[in-house]
Amino acid sequence: MADEDSGLEKAPYGAHGSGQAAGHVPVLLKEAIDFLAIRRGGTYIDATLGLGGHSLEIARRLGPQGHLIGLDKDPQALELARKRLAGEGEMPKITLLHCSFASLPQQFPSATADGLLADLGVSSLQFGDPARGFSFQAEGPLDMRIDSTSERTAEQVVNHMREEDLANVIYEFGEERRSRRIARAIVRARPIRTTAHLAQVISAALRSMKRDGAREKIHPATRTFQAIRIFVNRELDDLKALLAAAPGVLKPGGRLVMISFHSLEDRIVKDALRDGARDGIYKVLTKKPVEAGQEEIDRNPRSRSAKLRAAERILPR
Ligand SMILES: C[S@@+](CC[C@H](N)C(=O)[O-])C[C@H]1O[C@@H](n2cnc3c(N)ncnc32)[C@H](O)[C@@H]1O
Repeated sequence: MADEDSGLEKAPYGAHGSGQAAGHVPVLLKEAIDFLAIRRGGTYIDATLGLGGHSLEIARRLGPQGHLIGLDKDPQALELARKRLAGEGEMPKITLLHCSFASLPQQFPSATADGLLADLGVSSLQFGDPARGFSFQAEGPLDMRIDSTSERTAEQVVNHMREEDLANVIYEFGEERRSRRIARAIVRARPIRTTAHLAQVISAALRSMKRDGAREKIHPATRTFQAIRIFVNRELDDLKALLAAAPGVLKPGGRLVMISFHSLEDRIVKDALRDGARDGIYKVLTKKPVEAGQEEIDRNPRSRSAKLRAAERILPR
């Protein structure tokens, strides 16, 4: 994966106990670092800083002349990552920005970066905090905002969206074929104020339906929660904006590494890389997506659905 260029530094993983922030284990860490092929002294953008797990490994390979730029939409994640990155020894210049990766072109001049990483979705810290409202397994407010300063909440979507629009959101972003039945049940149960109440309404709506084997493997509310979260945070629009901006931000030879967690995201990434290769702006480095091995899945169940795709920026022919 990593090429044998002598400019690449090959620091061992987790040599300072890094790679694991309390509550969030970075996914496909070694693979992401290898594909980024980090050059000492280079400039790298971590578009989804999170708890800084991937960033820490990038920073350790950059040396004091390097520059790490970390973005996150969640001010809380930025604060935690800032503390974590400050606790290390010899570090590159570090710039942390509270913004969406969709605003990449406004943030950086063209050909800024030697590499760009995006590890999509929410961190386990966000997911596991009932107050953020992402999980149907804990009682919490219907929030689901990645950026707590943004306006649209899950509570508004669940309680105020027209039934037909709600069904479309659940169908499109949750790939849930029982979306109409779920939307009808939600509208009838309004007002719904908590994650547990929403999960219960969905479960009750689907209980009477005969389900196939595959569907029984996941909680009945999984797809609807995913759909509402994607809609609340405009996740797919942001992802498309990031992918549209990435070729401009990368230097020739720069690497793009994308980690996605569901098929909607992966399809968008796959198509963007394929189109980039067709237009002569990318060389795709992953014929098939890279997935976590059994050992990583056992250690970190979140990695089970991860898919990594990578490409190198090349000059148009
Ligand atoms: C899976 S976590 C990243 C974890 C990180 N790689 C680590 O190892 O700690 C995804 C992060 O991306 C952030 N995020 C999601 N959408 C974003 C967007 N559009 N712009 C910037 N950050 C975003 C989330 O707030 C979350 O902290």
